[in-house]
Amino acid sequence: EDADKSARFEARVANEERIEPNDWMPAAYRKTLTRQISQHAHSEIVGMLPEGNWITRAPTLRRKAALLAKVQDECGHGLYLYAAAETLGTSREELVDQMLSGKAKYSSIFNYPTLTWADIGAIGWLVDGAAIMNQIPLCRCSYGPYARAMIRVCKEESFHQRQGYEIMVTLSHGTPEQKAMAQSALDRWWWQCLMMFGPPDGESQHSDQSTRWKIKRFSNDELRQKFVDATVPQSDYLGLKIPDADLKWNATTGHWDYGAIDWQEFQDVLAGNGPCNRDRLAARRKAHDDGAWVREAATAYAEKQRARRAA
Ligand code: ACO
Repeated sequence: EDADKSARFEARVANEERIEPNDWMPAAYRKTLTRQISQHAHSEIVGMLPEGNWITRAPTLRRKAALLAKVQDECGHGLYLYAAAETLGTSREELVDQMLSGKAKYSSIFNYPTLTWADIGAIGWLVDGAAIMNQIPLCRCSYGPYARAMIRVCKEESFHQRQGYEIMVTLSHGTPEQKAMAQSALDRWWWQCLMMFGPPDGESQHSDQSTRWKIKRFSNDELRQKFVDATVPQSDYLGLKIPDADLKWNATTGHWDYGAIDWQEFQDVLAGNGPCNRDRLAARRKAHDDGAWVREAATAYAEKQRARRAA
């Protein structure tokens, strides 16, 4: 009977039908989606930390209000994504525990420090730019709740990207010191953003299966190339230089060729040894512990309401 269900599932996916929470699905499909969606949720939550660092020091009230709204959006994205992951049968508490214990991954990019205000510009422009490139195709993911969550997330991300690019425009047209600050931020975030797309296709363990199941619509390398092609002209407009001596227009392929990525650095960050891994996890654990009383109060209140309704 399972073979029957499995064949029906594969046919539905092939036919571009959406799989919903109560539909039959292979255990491995459930597992890989829980993995990807929960890692995505953790990334949104940990991603609040590097930017939150600059809320109190934003240069104007307008910048501060925009950054505050943006960081709040990231929190909302995390909550949507935990809710989408929960529809696959693992509780949010369990997923959060996996992150806090260091068992679950979150995006490598959030293990780097934000040293100057220009980093807030670079994160919006490049990190959110890379996130959009990766997430627009996820709006067509075969799993309904994930695909639908991505629609709103992508709309908000595109606002974040413009917020960042506008900071870069202002700085790169500012004083020589401001321009140098913008260049330094680009220098420190460029390669790390290329790593966000994941290992090269040949080493991407989940890609083949996720592509067959229409979770992934483009490969890691395809999305990385799209990002480079879209970003080079934006960097030219800013008058900034991408820190890659091998970056060259290839008239034959119609793409920008780029230099070798330091995959050892990527592996080190994934292993927990990036510049900020320990700080990030420590900050999340502290926030979780400090919030224990809120969770207890909310649970007690819900219990009281339930008892009152039952009476
Ligand atoms: N940072 C940390 N881990 C990564 C990264 C990265 N940048 N890229 C890949 N990995 C991990 C994978 O999670 C996987 O580990 P696991 O088996 O323990 O789960 C391993 O490296 C091998 O990679 P792939 O086989 O290529 O994994 P996958 O097919 O899942 O592709 C990708 C990785 C592209 C990140 C995919 O999971 C995805 O599209 N996720 C949703 C988007 C997302 O999470 N974005 C977060 C950053 S954007 C933001 O939050 C603003």
